[in-house]
Amino acid sequence: MKIYRIQESFVFTIFGASGDLAQLKIFPALFALAEQKRFPQKFWIVGYARTIKKTEDFRNFFEDSVRKSKKKKLNEHQEKVLKELLNHVFYFSGQYDQEEDFQRYKEFCYSLTQKRKYMHVAYFSVPPTIFEPIVQNLARIRDSQSDDIRLVLEKPFGRDEHSARHLFHFIGQYFEEDQIYLLDHYLGKKAVRSLIPLRHMNRILNLMLKGREVANIQISALESVGVEHRLDYFDQVGTLKDMIQSHMLQMLALTTMSIPIKKDTSSIQKEKSAVLSALEFSPEKSSICLGQYEGYKKQSAKVKDSETPTFVALRLQINRESWYGVPIFLRAGKKLSSKNTYITLELKKFEFQSSDHEPNRVVIELYPDEKIHIKLLDEDGATARLGEIGASESIACQGDYCLPEHGLLLLDVIRNEKMHFLSFSEILASWQLIDAVDHFLEEQKRKPVQYLAGSSGPESQTLLMEGTPFRWYDIHEQNGNK
Ligand SMILES: NC(=O)c1ccc[n+]([C@@H]2O[C@H](COP(=O)([O-])OP(=O)(O)OC[C@H]3O[C@@H](n4cnc5c(N)ncnc54)[C@H](OP(=O)(O)O)[C@@H]3O)[C@@H](O)[C@H]2O)c1
Repeated sequence: MKIYRIQESFVFTIFGASGDLAQLKIFPALFALAEQKRFPQKFWIVGYARTIKKTEDFRNFFEDSVRKSKKKKLNEHQEKVLKELLNHVFYFSGQYDQEEDFQRYKEFCYSLTQKRKYMHVAYFSVPPTIFEPIVQNLARIRDSQSDDIRLVLEKPFGRDEHSARHLFHFIGQYFEEDQIYLLDHYLGKKAVRSLIPLRHMNRILNLMLKGREVANIQISALESVGVEHRLDYFDQVGTLKDMIQSHMLQMLALTTMSIPIKKDTSSIQKEKSAVLSALEFSPEKSSICLGQYEGYKKQSAKVKDSETPTFVALRLQINRESWYGVPIFLRAGKKLSSKNTYITLELKKFEFQSSDHEPNRVVIELYPDEKIHIKLLDEDGATARLGEIGASESIACQGDYCLPEHGLLLLDVIRNEKMHFLSFSEILASWQLIDAVDHFLEEQKRKPVQYLAGSSGPESQTLLMEGTPFRWYDIHEQNGNK
């Protein structure tokens, strides 16, 4: 497959270029794009932050971040790519809420591009409290509303439906929704991106992914690490908002949405939004399990009394005829025995099959492997696998080397491909569900139960399946036994 290369020159500005996300994800993603020779001859990467420093110092900072992101020492080719890339990196120091600084920044960009009209990507790598002044100032300095400015905002979008609605309304006063790229990095994962094309192209798979064939759906996002350096942020949101509100609901939507005939961005976003709006949570004790790993409170004095959950298991349903009666189980947690992310669709059994028989399953693995397989039964009831479909490589890969999630999504922004970004309505629908869960938890004054680090999480997660013939599908156990 011919590799996609960017033709048009552009300015890529990272607001908050001194921060965590910039160092950990954005600089390495830009380097990965350079390594794959995706960039045109003329492009400018501008770091914008308040700290006063010279471009030379920022280049050193950028370089260090790229080196740290690589497990091995850079090879000769990578050294050359990095050196060349740094020539395209610049720094501008300014406040986020001062129009004069943005006017100076506009002239600074002009001094680089030598033209007034160019594609401008503005990446919001700042805390959400700073989004609004940047949006406002970017709007103030543009020459006309038709300027090609693309705003990239990373989740979380608000803290609840109300604040998300406020944010979108605010941005909407200045920019059109199609200029805004709402990024959830899970949609940069190859296997997640493969879901729609696979369902679109393979009737066999789509026939199985129908409510009438499926007994239950499970999505597990299990991590072995704890909260680590993002404790301040995490303690305010917890697993429900950090993992379930966007990442897991997006995976669920991609798995259960109707496939539109026209595979364009707006049709896909509409279908995702429809299924997200139809999600329901029954406000019952057994619909949710909260856990916190032992030792969480000891990580810092600030969280010594915290009741923030680091594990959530949730039971939902889809209020649509096509999925009527199919329970959905989601769970996400930290400090567990393994790191695995996977979606399991358990298929219904024949009437004559005994309850001891393992069901057929469609398993979509996202981490550590990226593949989809169908588990069949042989004559003795042992499971066999039917084919493993590798995640689509298409645009992400050049030979063996594939772009990281942020690299792929940045490439999408520059090539104006919005299919793997979220729409306002999807986000609002997701928040409506999470707000309902939150409201229930507050009313019940629910606190998380403690679980051991390195375990499978709270034992009470099984209560979600009480009264059903189902159990959590443990991929780790299954793979160990294969
Ligand atoms: N870090 C991650 O792994 C991660 C993952 C997913 C999503 N996100 C999202 O990505 C965005 C950036 O996250 P981050 O972790 O990189 O943020 P951060 O490190 O806390 O902040 C980024 C930069 O913003 C500026 N800043 C911080 N607090 C500020 C304040 N109160 N007023 C004005 N400027 C301030 C600072 O730059 P200067 O002082 O130099 O101007 C800072 O270096 C957030 O929306 C976050 O929710 C982050």
